[in-house]
Amino acid sequence: MKIFVINGPNLNMLGIREPAIYGSGTYKSLVEMIEKNCRENGDECEFFQSNHEGALVDEIQRAYFDGADGIVINPGAYTHTSIALLDAVKAVKLPVVEVHISDVDARESFRKTSYIRAACIATVSGEGFPGYLHACDILRENHKKGEA
Ligand code: DQA
Repeated sequence: MKIFVINGPNLNMLGIREPAIYGSGTYKSLVEMIEKNCRENGDECEFFQSNHEGALVDEIQRAYFDGADGIVINPGAYTHTSIALLDAVKAVKLPVVEVHISDVDARESFRKTSYIRAACIATVSGEGFPGYLHACDILRENHKKGEA
């Protein structure tokens, strides 16, 4: 499978940013963990992080044009505000799994809203970095089902 892993604003600050919530691992260590997991599963993966909403829209579209089989996305705070990201996921019709490192439902009430969720096949929240691997597994299961 070809999996695109897209991270939104402030996720480049992992390790520095609120470690009590997001842990002490860096963005680089997150990427390395997912790369290793994809290698072990025979999957190709591509990574993208941006602090800019439009750049994230562009990357979702790029996943489509580059023949991705699925997307794992942590839209960061754009989860709670962005209809543009929702529309981008709807437009490409790829299987997308929404990931949050923290348990967004157990935090401030404004984090309970997710616009993108309506177009995702699943949401993984509150599982820390391993949540991204869980999301990749969901995409793999979904892919297998599609091939069966
Ligand atoms: C987050 C949760 C969001 O509410 C927050 O704005 C983030 C990170 C998470 O991974 O837990 O930037 O998506």
